[in-house]
Amino acid sequence: MAVLPGPSVERPTEPSPEGSPEDRVRAIVAAHRGERGALLPVLHSVKEELGYVDPAVIPVLAAELNLSRADVHGVVTFYEDFRQSPPGRRTVRICRAEACQAVGAADVAERARNRLGVSFGETTSDGEITLDQVFCLGNCATGPAVEVDGRLYGRVTPERLDALLTAEGADA
Ligand code: FES
Repeated sequence: MAVLPGPSVERPTEPSPEGSPEDRVRAIVAAHRGERGALLPVLHSVKEELGYVDPAVIPVLAAELNLSRADVHGVVTFYEDFRQSPPGRRTVRICRAEACQAVGAADVAERARNRLGVSFGETTSDGEITLDQVFCLGNCATGPAVEVDGRLYGRVTPERLDALLTAEGADA
């Protein structure tokens, strides 16, 4: 399936914080109306506003963007970035790309999975932490790189990861 992102256009989406997810998605699509290749920017906006792409809004996206449900579903499931269930209260993203792998990212990933009891893309049963893998956080020179709650950390060892997971908004 050839779905290319359209030109990067910063366009504020100002959907109402009120309303059903479907209404909010319609408002997001309206903000991107006329944009070429709008599906990806729309999905990013949906993720930003709702936290995830609820499967229930896929028919709305398809209808609003004049695409088939299968097309929308295909894109949502192709990109790991578009989770289909709510994320945990905290998010841990571990870089699995080559430069980080070369300096021990596999050990950090194993510690995270064992400690949290989840695989990548999953959330702990208490809904607290979502564990994701990413392929480069732009911090290749000081890997292994880990992002916790949007904050980037370098040279993360399994022990340092323990500290980051223990500390609420850790300043490690
Ligand atoms: S390879 Fe890990 S941050 Fe780039």
